[in-house]
Amino acid sequence: MKTLLRFLSKMLLIYGIIVVPYLLVSFSIWFIFFMLAMLILAVALLVVIVMALGTELKVFQRRPSNEGKKNADGKDAPRYLKIHYKNIEVSYLWSLNGGGLIFTYEFDRVVSRKIGKVNHVFEYCAGPGFIGFNLLANNLCDRLTLSDVNPKAVEAIRETIRNNHLEDKVTVVQSDCLDAIPEHEQWDLVVGNPPWDVSAKTQKNIILSDPQGRVHEKFFRDIRKFLKPGGSILFIEGREFSNARCFKDLARNNGLELGGVLKSVPFLEIFKHREEYRGIRAPLFIFLRVSLFFRETYFLWFKRKEVVAVGAQPV
Ligand SMILES: C[S@@+](CC[C@H](N)C(=O)[O-])C[C@H]1O[C@@H](n2cnc3c(N)ncnc32)[C@H](O)[C@@H]1O
Repeated sequence: MKTLLRFLSKMLLIYGIIVVPYLLVSFSIWFIFFMLAMLILAVALLVVIVMALGTELKVFQRRPSNEGKKNADGKDAPRYLKIHYKNIEVSYLWSLNGGGLIFTYEFDRVVSRKIGKVNHVFEYCAGPGFIGFNLLANNLCDRLTLSDVNPKAVEAIRETIRNNHLEDKVTVVQSDCLDAIPEHEQWDLVVGNPPWDVSAKTQKNIILSDPQGRVHEKFFRDIRKFLKPGGSILFIEGREFSNARCFKDLARNNGLELGGVLKSVPFLEIFKHREEYRGIRAPLFIFLRVSLFFRETYFLWFKRKEVVAVGAQPV
């Protein structure tokens, strides 16, 4: 018995002196490796974000001086930030960006893939017009009309039109929903990134809040008369606030049919379709796809429903 106890205590001693420190050391080494890997990943992510925002989207640029420039009301004109889509330089203020600065590249891809070039595009809730101007610059349309309720957004669009001499191709209308759009306007494609929060009680935030879904409801009620036959609508929405069912009946009751719901980027596809993003470099591509994945965005695609006479064959 004594020998057994002595043996066991020796074993414990050996175990305590050799094995436990060994385990502790090797565990710490793995732990250090793990932490190092995490650090490298975090630094790589930071580099991607800084490059995407800084060198690609140029959000850290110094705003050019607007000395001497006045608005129509005689006040100093805002000092606009600039973003380039091919040969179009878009003027904007940071406060007017509702995500279109990033989502525009996804619109460009979806329009090229699903719809192709059209004659006349309308951007609803346009802000500074990131989406519409990018489609125009990439030759996905010949003409562009934009509207927004916010006079600052409309003024930024006017600045872009002036600076790029686009007066004969681009029109802007300050309008609450579609209320002030001239009756004669006819569009092949409507794009938009409207305020996503359709269950907001009040308009706390003009970028995000759509109190009682009014901005969507009025749009679907009035849009058909502005759509050419075969015309369609492509909106980006946020899954945390809505899904296609929220708008389907409203659209159907107003002469539209659901053309499809294009889901947000699935995890395994974050880095797919690189070749479809023309003109943007890798950091912005990664930033865009990861943002779309985490924001859980989806595209709603509606088409104008054509009335087919009884007995006639749809063409
Ligand atoms: C999410 S932001 C999108 C801005 C820009 N298109 C972008 O993608 O960055 C929503 C836009 O809807 C506009 N808006 C809000 N209520 C509106 C209304 N009743 N009629 C027209 N535009 C409205 C806001 O001024 C804002 O520019």
